[in-house]
Amino acid sequence: MAKTIYRGDYRAPTHLIDSIRLEFDLNAEETLVKSTLEVRPNPECTEKDPPLFLNGEDITLRSVSIDGRELKDGEYKVDSNGLTIPGITSAQKLEIVNTFSPKANTALSGIYASGVNLMSQCEAQGFRRITFFEDRPDVLARYTTVIRGATEDFPVMLSNGNLTEEKSLEDGRREVTYVDPFPKPCYLFALVAGKLVSRASKFDLKDGRTVDLSVWVDPQDLDKTEHTLESLKRAIRWDEERWGLELDLKDFKIVATNDFNFGAMENKGLNIFNSRCALANPKVATDSDYLRIEGVVGHEYFHNWTGDRVTLRDWFQLTLKEGLTVFRDQEFSADMLGEPSARAVQRIRDVSVLRAAQFMEDAGPMAHPIRPESYQNINNFYTSTVYEKGAEVIRMLQTLLGRETFRKGFDLYIARNDGHAVTCEAFINAMAEASGRDLSEFTNWYSQAGTPRVTVRRHWDEVNHRLTLNVRQSTPPTPGQSVKKPFLIPFPVAFLNSRGEEMPVQLAEEDEAPAPGTRMFELTDETAEFVFGGLEEEPVVSLNRGFAAPIILDAGLSQEELAFLAANDPDPFNRWDAMNRLLIDAVHAQTRARLLKTPEDVSPLVISAASKILRDENLSPAFKAVALTMPGEKLVAEEDPLIDPHAVHAGWIAVRQAIGEKNISAFLETAQANIVEGPYEPTPEKAGKRALRNLALGYAHAAGSPRAAIMIKDQFMTANNLTDKLAALHMMANSQTPAKQDMEVDALKAWYHEPLLINKWLTIQATAPSFPGEARVLERVRELTRCPFFSLKNPNNVYALLLGYFQQNPSEFHLADGSGYAFWAEMVLELNRINPQVAARVARSLDNWRRYTPALAEKMHAALESVEAKRSELSPNVAEIIEKALG
Ligand code: ARG
Ligand code: ZN
Repeated sequence: MAKTIYRGDYRAPTHLIDSIRLEFDLNAEETLVKSTLEVRPNPECTEKDPPLFLNGEDITLRSVSIDGRELKDGEYKVDSNGLTIPGITSAQKLEIVNTFSPKANTALSGIYASGVNLMSQCEAQGFRRITFFEDRPDVLARYTTVIRGATEDFPVMLSNGNLTEEKSLEDGRREVTYVDPFPKPCYLFALVAGKLVSRASKFDLKDGRTVDLSVWVDPQDLDKTEHTLESLKRAIRWDEERWGLELDLKDFKIVATNDFNFGAMENKGLNIFNSRCALANPKVATDSDYLRIEGVVGHEYFHNWTGDRVTLRDWFQLTLKEGLTVFRDQEFSADMLGEPSARAVQRIRDVSVLRAAQFMEDAGPMAHPIRPESYQNINNFYTSTVYEKGAEVIRMLQTLLGRETFRKGFDLYIARNDGHAVTCEAFINAMAEASGRDLSEFTNWYSQAGTPRVTVRRHWDEVNHRLTLNVRQSTPPTPGQSVKKPFLIPFPVAFLNSRGEEMPVQLAEEDEAPAPGTRMFELTDETAEFVFGGLEEEPVVSLNRGFAAPIILDAGLSQEELAFLAANDPDPFNRWDAMNRLLIDAVHAQTRARLLKTPEDVSPLVISAASKILRDENLSPAFKAVALTMPGEKLVAEEDPLIDPHAVHAGWIAVRQAIGEKNISAFLETAQANIVEGPYEPTPEKAGKRALRNLALGYAHAAGSPRAAIMIKDQFMTANNLTDKLAALHMMANSQTPAKQDMEVDALKAWYHEPLLINKWLTIQATAPSFPGEARVLERVRELTRCPFFSLKNPNNVYALLLGYFQQNPSEFHLADGSGYAFWAEMVLELNRINPQVAARVARSLDNWRRYTPALAEKMHAALESVEAKRSELSPNVAEIIEKALG
């Protein structure tokens, strides 16, 4: 039976574990662990003489001893959840011997086999699959790790901390010892062993120390590690310069593996990465992969302070480390881009991700506050809400307090909590103290789910030249929270005159006009009224610039005003946002026209707005590319009262085609003008040009230009980098061109031996449309699950093919006969037996079934029920998702 855990039920641990010595005898079939713990009762525990409970899952107990005496049956109890030992009322030395099988560990949690290597993943609750331990983040211990293994199988053996001893044993084995000087929770433990090679470098820290950095990979991947190592150096330097934080170890390692449940993991001094977030060269990685790798390398490195040195009291506090660390990695990525307009592109990307994934989550059955109040399985709460919305909440604090004060609060937070396992209050309190501001109203962001709607209505008083803004905020109900209190929302306001210049934002009661530009206000109540004066003409308003708050803003702007902002707003984020909104509205209009069977032309306003941006000589290629990118079908659909994915798809196609047709020569010229010559370099400028060229080719191709088709095919054949090659393949696969089959086969032949490329190829297959006369995508995907280069045991394969199909190809997945959903149910059940975390992620694809037209919703519901019918076989992970979806 699923058990719900509540935040309010937190109890301090009964016992503390000051140190742990782990001795591993490695073997992929069966690994033996001897664990020696120094345990003592926790003085803070209020229970009298409680038994010691050590979590243990899927591991086999061999023996338990206390201070050298082996315990007999009856002196302890062991079951499928762990080991209970009564009578530990004083400090004791506990010795536990157990075994587990890395090979059999298809859940990829604990220690598991990845090819010829062994890898570990302990967050959130994987350590209990290695040995018996108090598997909770508030038990901090000092680790000594001894690893023994056959030299032939495991020439490299790594763990956290410093290598203190290394010796050969008589029997062809080797033994290494690592000591980690920093106490840590067990979720940060790591062990890696196998046939790995490394790219290494010395690096000089600001404080004068020199450290060793290394990136460990399979031998065939060594030529994909340079960018990773360089990104790590940039991250270390940035953390020193921007936050005054130094690396606290002599040695810092990164490991890459093809078998990993998510992106990467911040184990102390030994970060482990999914290879798709760590490996790059021009042949296997696109411009966005290069950016992502830099961001994730930064993210995991930044956790060393925000996560490892200051850690979590319990898993409800996850956003304390994740929201903060995402904020830090976003700032890092933006700073690496340099000047303000390039930074804006980074912000636009981050916001697009938030709107596409988190807004949807916040409106569905899994909606939860960034600090959830309850969960069944914590692995289901590594969500875009905890991560990305969590980062927005931190960003709002910086906006409200100002960068300098925020930095003071941050310093205070680190200084005060270093070495401790704390709650989100530790962060808020440090900020409150540094700023002298009562932040209690702000904490609603931590406790309430749902995306606030902010509606702004304007009244222009022509006689007195006054502008009144009436602002109302409201947040729709979410599961378990029907009534919401108002949020404290930063609310930047800017005014533009008819020439597109910024005007002063002056309140009517003020005597003096401030300098023209953005002015920051705060919303605290459900409603607010602002009256502005000193205005020479009625302004166009530019609100929530830079996406200061994670809200849905209805500024009441007309299409004409949006077009004006898209052409003139000096704030690049809002300029993009206005163009994006015009595109979304255009797709809505076309969708509606299809549903009502009243054909209408794509609005000339959106077409001319797009063409102005395309031709604007003051805009960078990178900006033009993001501004003219069509909003995703799912994002658009999310705003419809009832989603008809096919109508949205048709509407989307119509808008893209119309923009392409009306600007065909401009797009072709743009494509021609943005050829990047010379060897590949992932610099922002060159990446921006490639992005714009490919976007332009895409529009021209969608408009049926034969010249575009030739240019695309040519690009596919001659590109010296994956960005251009993949873009070409993608455009072809999404069109009815007969040449596409040959290109797809060519790509497959060339990419067959490279998992990173195979996954990209699978995604292209999964996300392409099917045209009359072609096999349905469902059939293609089903067939691909049986091919030799796909395995349900490999998370990246599953994400590339199945998530691609279930979540990025709405018009092909939502088939009228429900066969797409039946396939989903089949896959969820199979994955459930293999890897519960991956299965649960795939299971979430039907979360928002209630939002669809009744015919589809009914079939989605039936598919959910068919999984629910197997309840007794479901992992707790999947059970929670299905139960909440059915809610
Ligand atoms: N802490 C890791 C990171 O964000 C992710 C761990 C994800 N764990 C999980 N069980 N889903 O960098
Ligand atoms: Zn993280």
